[in-house]
Amino acid sequence: MLLQYLFCILSASYACALWIPITRQSNTQFTTSVFRNPQADSNVGFSNVKDSLYSATIKVNGRPFQVQVDSGSSELWIDPAGLDLPELHHTGLNSGTAYVDGTSAGGEIVLGNVTFGEFTVVNQALVLAPGSNATYEGLMQGVLGVGPYGGSQIYNTLNGTPYNGQNLVTNIFNSLLDEAPYMTFLLSRTNTGVAKGGVLSIGELVSNLTRIIKTPKLPVVAPCGWLTMSGGVLVNDKYHPAYTVPTATGSKSVAIFDTGTTVGQLPRAVVDFIYKDIPGAVWDESQSTYKLPCQSKLNMSMIFGGVALPIHPIDAIIVGVADSGIVTCYAAFEAADNGVMVLGDTFMRNVYTLLNFGDQLTHRGGNEPAYIQLLSVTDPEQAWNEFDQLNVKRIEDMIYDKFAREPLVRSSAALTTSPTASRYTLVGHVTIAASATATPTSTYTVQ
Ligand SMILES: *[C@@H]1O[C@H](CO)[C@@H](O)[C@H](O)[C@H]1NC(C)=O
Ligand SMILES: *[C@@H]1O[C@H](CO)[C@@H](O)[C@H](O)[C@H]1NC(C)=O
Ligand SMILES: *[C@@H]1O[C@H](CO)[C@@H](O)[C@H](O)[C@H]1NC(C)=O
Ligand SMILES: *[C@@H]1O[C@H](CO)[C@@H](O)[C@H](O)[C@H]1NC(C)=O
Repeated sequence: MLLQYLFCILSASYACALWIPITRQSNTQFTTSVFRNPQADSNVGFSNVKDSLYSATIKVNGRPFQVQVDSGSSELWIDPAGLDLPELHHTGLNSGTAYVDGTSAGGEIVLGNVTFGEFTVVNQALVLAPGSNATYEGLMQGVLGVGPYGGSQIYNTLNGTPYNGQNLVTNIFNSLLDEAPYMTFLLSRTNTGVAKGGVLSIGELVSNLTRIIKTPKLPVVAPCGWLTMSGGVLVNDKYHPAYTVPTATGSKSVAIFDTGTTVGQLPRAVVDFIYKDIPGAVWDESQSTYKLPCQSKLNMSMIFGGVALPIHPIDAIIVGVADSGIVTCYAAFEAADNGVMVLGDTFMRNVYTLLNFGDQLTHRGGNEPAYIQLLSVTDPEQAWNEFDQLNVKRIEDMIYDKFAREPLVRSSAALTTSPTASRYTLVGHVTIAASATATPTSTYTVQ
């Protein structure tokens, strides 16, 4: 989900002033350690709920929690919802996160053993946020932020105390030096209900997408989020630079990749550029975007590192079915002049995304900067040709889901049990030199 980034972006000025060194803690009682459980399958229950949110299962002191996986924030909180969690270490310090959508989560920072797939982090800092309203009405039991440390309230609150406030993924990379310090995401599509989320991997790549490591390395411009420079937007072969911030050295376009945002946010001028001229487009002030005829079809791409990454027309428009049965379609990007373009799930379903923490964000001691890599997984020709049929099916599915059967997604219990085996194979320890014919040193199928 989205935090306020403007401060970070404007004050960072793309310099390294904000790359705060991470201080290691010496109090042994609260030392963080990480172990791998070879017996644990790497099933993190990665799920896609109606294309609106992507979630995974974590365990806190052995108890499972279904949490939204959020590359747009940097810390872990759970709503224990009355569940007794014995043996947590209470710090007596509080932390809160306020999201741009008006929801928030706050409470005491505790240390616990947090398990994520094969990894368990002992003395991981997290927030207990009972009664948070950022749970999608109880569907989620928390948020797992996988953004860089600079965006973390917990980190900032615990900095200088005996406690380690680093987030879960950073702790994993900090402790396990043989683990390649990246996460990857490949987000699935589903019109209704709960589906397998796609791929969420730590230190591993999807076997037939290993060529991602040859794509341009997009520098992370500040340690508070997965932020990088964009090269603008292409719509039906027309170009817009999509500037988001004026700077002393010229205007810049900054983007953040946020799995925790369903749609996206672009500057108003860019939303106009993309959607205004579509026949039948009407600006809807209450939604901050255009209402569109549902059959509207456009070719758009986002440019990063000089590469145009096409967005499937099915992701350029979203569909809503009202209780009255009326179907309304909207642009899949809202207008917001916040200093940053937010590329949420509607963009991220079109790319395989690699978020590399480097040494900069893990403080491993080397000089590897943090960077992002994106590999297109959308064939624009195929997407164009299949849109009409897919779109009709999507609308039919959504109407059926709303009126003809009991809702599938009622509680988080449905999420942990539903996903079936994935089609993807992951490979570890892929080196740049070997990328063309990467030989996996370990392979297994994600459950
Ligand atoms: C957390 O993990 C450590 C190390 O394995 C163990 O000693 C401790 O008992 C665990 N605590 C809980 C509450 O599971
Ligand atoms: C969520 O809770 C916070 C804190 O209680 C409150 O300030 C905010 O208005 C609530 N937001 C929504 C959308 O209900
Ligand atoms: C969109 O792209 C597809 C594939 O590249 C092409 O066939 C189609 O004509 C394009 N449509 C428009 C409106 O540019
Ligand atoms: C990767 O392989 C899976 C099957 O293992 C397949 O479904 C998928 O389409 C492939 N992706 C690409 C981009 O080739």
